[in-house]
Amino acid sequence: MCGIVAAVGVDGNVLPAVIHGLKTLEYRGYDSAGVAIVSDGAIQVRRRTGKIAVLEEDLGQNGLPASPMALAHTRWATHGAPEDRNAHPHRDHLDKVVIVHNGIIENYAELRTDLQDAGHEFTSDTDTEVLANLVASLLEEHEGDLHAAIQSSLQRVHGAYALVAASSECANSIVVARHDSPLVVGIGEELTCAASDMPALLGLTRDFLVLENGETAVLTPHSCQIFDPNNQPVSRDIQHCDWTPEQAEKGGYPHFMLKEIEEQPDVLARTAFDRLHDAEGDVVFESEFGLEDQALCRFSRLRFMAMGTSFHSALLGKQFLEEFAQLPGDVLNASEFLYSPKLKEGDALTVIISQSGETADSLRAMREVQSRGGKVLGICNVRGSTLDREADHVLLTHCGPEVGVASTKAFFGQLTALYLLALRVGRARKVLSKEQGLALLSDLRHLRPKLDSLFSDEAEEAVRTAADILATVDSCLFLGRGFNHPIAMEGALKLKEISYIHAEGYPAGEMKHGPIALIDESFPVVAIATPGKTYEKMVSNIEEVRARSGKVVAVAAEGDQKVAQLADATLFVPKVPEHLSPLVNVIPLQQLSYEVANRLGKDVDQPRNLAKSVTVE
Ligand code: F6R
Repeated sequence: MCGIVAAVGVDGNVLPAVIHGLKTLEYRGYDSAGVAIVSDGAIQVRRRTGKIAVLEEDLGQNGLPASPMALAHTRWATHGAPEDRNAHPHRDHLDKVVIVHNGIIENYAELRTDLQDAGHEFTSDTDTEVLANLVASLLEEHEGDLHAAIQSSLQRVHGAYALVAASSECANSIVVARHDSPLVVGIGEELTCAASDMPALLGLTRDFLVLENGETAVLTPHSCQIFDPNNQPVSRDIQHCDWTPEQAEKGGYPHFMLKEIEEQPDVLARTAFDRLHDAEGDVVFESEFGLEDQALCRFSRLRFMAMGTSFHSALLGKQFLEEFAQLPGDVLNASEFLYSPKLKEGDALTVIISQSGETADSLRAMREVQSRGGKVLGICNVRGSTLDREADHVLLTHCGPEVGVASTKAFFGQLTALYLLALRVGRARKVLSKEQGLALLSDLRHLRPKLDSLFSDEAEEAVRTAADILATVDSCLFLGRGFNHPIAMEGALKLKEISYIHAEGYPAGEMKHGPIALIDESFPVVAIATPGKTYEKMVSNIEEVRARSGKVVAVAAEGDQKVAQLADATLFVPKVPEHLSPLVNVIPLQQLSYEVANRLGKDVDQPRNLAKSVTVE
C-alpha cells in the first residue's frame, strides 16, 4: 500500500533523509513515487512511475533545491492507472496546496464535480487531487490557515486517509491528518517528521507520537500540536521505539525475506522466553494483556479472526487452544465476519491477529465486535499500531520489523504467542496441571537449539533439490493434516505469493474428494508427514500421489527413511513433539518458496500486486 514520509527541519536539506525513509517503505508495494518541496513561495514536485530509483535518477538530472521541508510518497494505484500524472504529490489547479495521501476518499467523484463546476481543473484520475483542490478552495475562507482549511475539508470527506499537506505560503510547517489509515509523527532534534510506518523514520528519530483516528496535527521543526476533530488541542505522550535502524535493514542478506526466515530462532526466544514462568509451569504476560484467571474462566469460547498468513495462525490458535485448554475455538476470516449476520456476542473473547496491526479488514472486525459489546485481544507485532491501541487486551509478538512482503518471522512469532496463550488459558482453567504446563514450557525451550539444523548446508541442499521439482511446474498441491493443515495452506500461500506458481493447501483427507483429479507427472504434491496422530494417513496419501505418477516433496522427521524412500525430495526437520511441529515444518516451506522464486528471477521482497500492510478493504 502507499507510503508517506515527510519532514520539516530548521535548515539544511531534508530531501535525502525523506527519500531514504521512502526506500524503507518499498516493502509495502508501490507503482510510482514522488516528492515535493516549497521554495521561494512555490511548490515544486517531481514524480515518476516505477521504482524510487527512477525518481532518484530524475532528481539527479532535474534536481530540486535544498529544502528544510519535503513531502514524499510511494503510490499503490487505487484511482487511475500507474502513470506519472497519477503519482503523488498532488497539487490544486492554482499550485497553492500540495498533498500526499494514503487511503481512499469514497465521495471523491461528487466532490470533483462540484469543484469542476466552480472552475477547478484536474490533470489526474485520483481522489487525492480532488482533496488538494478542496483544501485550496477553502484556504481563502480560512485566511490562508492550512490547518483550518484541512479540518474543514475533512468534514466533507468520507473514507480513509492519512495525509500530509503543505501550502506555498509556508515553508516551515506541514499539516498531517489521519482516519483509518496509519500515520506516526517522529520527534527529532531540530526536525519533526511523519510517516505511515515507524521504520521509515528510524534514521531520524526513535521518539514517536501516534495520531488517533480523526486527529490532525501541525508540525514545525520544534513542535507537533495535535488537535481532535473539534479542533481542541490534545496532549499525547511520546513513545520510544526500541527497534534499531539496522533491524529494518538487510544486514548483508540478498533479500529481507531470507534474513527474516533466518531470524526465526531469535523470534522464538524474544517472544517466549521472558514470559515463561517455570516455577508455576505457566506463562506471565505483561499488564496490557489484562486478563486474569477469573476472566479467562468466564469465556465459553475464543474466536480467532485475521487475514492472509495471520489467518493461518488463527487456524493454529484454535488448535492449540482446544489441545491445551480444552476450550472450543472458532476461526473466521475477518472480512467475512463483517458481513455475517449480527449475532449477539455472548461470552466469547475475540482474538484478532495482525502482524502490522493496520489491516483494514481485521480492524473493522475488531470494531464490529466491540460495537456488539464483545471484548478483543489483539495479537500484533507493532507497538503503537491501531490494533495495539484499540484492542481491549494486547499480546505483542517481538519479531522486530518485518520488511519482506511475504510474512515469515511474523507468522512464527504469532504461532509462538498463540502457543503461550493456549497454555495460559489451560492453566487458568485448571485443565492443565503444573506438571503438564512445565512440560509444554520445556518443549518450547528445547525447540530453539533444534531449529539450527534447518539452516545447515544439508538443509539448503535439500531445499535446492525440492526447488528443482517445483520451479518448472505451473501448479501444485500442499497437503497436511491436523496441526499441519494450516502449515500446508501457509506453504502454498508463500509459494504463490512470491513465485506466482499456482498452489493450494488442503487437509490431506480432502485429496480424494477432488484435488486428486489434478495429479499426474506434471503436478507435484508437497506432503507434510512428520510424526503424530496422522502420520500413517499421510504416508498413504503420498502412496496415492505416487500411484498417479505425481512427484512428491516431503517434509519428514530426521531419519525417516520410510517417507524419504517414497518421496522425490525430502526436507528433513528435527524431531519435536507434534504440537510444536508447525513451528518447525513451516521453515523449510518458506525456504522452498524463497528458493523457487529467486531461481525464477522474481522480486522476492516486493511481489507484484501485493502490499505489506493492506489498509483498504
Ligand atoms: C502473506 C501476508 C499477508 C498478511 C495479511 C494480513 O505473506 O503477509 O497475507 O498476512 O495481509 O496482514 P497482517 O498480519 O498485517 O494483518
